[in-house]
Amino acid sequence: MNLATLRKLILEKNLLALLRLGTQANHVYRCAFAAAAGSSGLLGLLSRQPSKLDEIARHLQLGNGQLAAVEAWLDCGVKAGELALKDGRYRLKGRLSRLLAPSGNAVLGSLFEEVTRYHYDAILQAPQRLRDARRYTLADQDGELIARSSRVLEPLVEEAIDWAISGMPGRAQNASVLEIGCGAGHYLCYMRARHPGLRLLAMDFQAEVADAARRNLAASGLDGAVRIEHADILGFDSAERFDLVTLHNNIYYFSGERRDALLRKVRALLKPAGRLLLTTSCRGGSAAVAALHLWWALSDEDSGLPRREELRQQLQNHGFTRVDDKRMLPGESYFAFLASTG
Ligand SMILES: C[S@@+](CC[C@H](N)C(=O)[O-])C[C@H]1O[C@@H](n2cnc3c(N)ncnc32)[C@H](O)[C@@H]1O
Repeated sequence: MNLATLRKLILEKNLLALLRLGTQANHVYRCAFAAAAGSSGLLGLLSRQPSKLDEIARHLQLGNGQLAAVEAWLDCGVKAGELALKDGRYRLKGRLSRLLAPSGNAVLGSLFEEVTRYHYDAILQAPQRLRDARRYTLADQDGELIARSSRVLEPLVEEAIDWAISGMPGRAQNASVLEIGCGAGHYLCYMRARHPGLRLLAMDFQAEVADAARRNLAASGLDGAVRIEHADILGFDSAERFDLVTLHNNIYYFSGERRDALLRKVRALLKPAGRLLLTTSCRGGSAAVAALHLWWALSDEDSGLPRREELRQQLQNHGFTRVDDKRMLPGESYFAFLASTG
């Protein structure tokens, strides 16, 4: 490059800012690559053994005709600093990939995939989607991925479950529980392990999620002990009435009239002294919570996350005269609400 070109780059193209921008852009490349490498199984493969291009393509179930494009993709990982290539073999290099690769960090991997696939898209697309009136629907989400990433909240929800059950003296022995939107089914396993006397019924609206929950329960030796239905709670009915209804991380799937219908349905399904335990992110938390709120604000539910006070009020309007709530994580707007009619 001659001096005149360098001068133009510095003065006309703001070279310094361009270099700074390059550093920021590299974070985007790293994130995109690590998320795709995680969900495709590449991180798992490379954490076990450095691998050649053709071995990687085979692992990704791609044919020889696709080798050039796979190589181009891997090269993005190398140039972004997430992979290294030595003696024809790719291996993990970047901090992000090494963080997401261990199987013990699978929940973190799912969470990161949710961030890169859905939160990033919502932030990027918001103005255009609003202009085009193109709302997200539940079909835009991979339900199993969301169920997996929601597992990061398990310690908080488990504490909330203990809170709810500890207030049911003696009744946990043979109390009946209905779990709405059970996701991966983890809380059913948790309740069953802590209180074997509980009678549990659960449902999920997404068939593949209900199937995954059944598989998880079977893997924990609990098939037969818990009934899991593929159903929409709004169309669900049961002759049984429940001591406890739980709604974890899904109140924002219901807005406006649907939320009213949900709360009416919950009340109708509860025994007279029964209680509702609801856990949810509310507005006002971290950037991740803001992005979750945005996705739902852009959805056909048009809802976004609830405000804490608004949710308390809605519960009271539906006859839950006693509503206690607790912030489950200091500094974050994640709450548990325990509501009863007396
Ligand atoms: C974010 S996931 C949370 C799953 C689980 N409760 C947890 O906390 O890990 C929300 C779940 O609610 C389910 N869901 C949404 N609307 C529903 C409805 N109308 N009836 C039953 N389940 C529903 C979704 O299919 C999804 O699996």
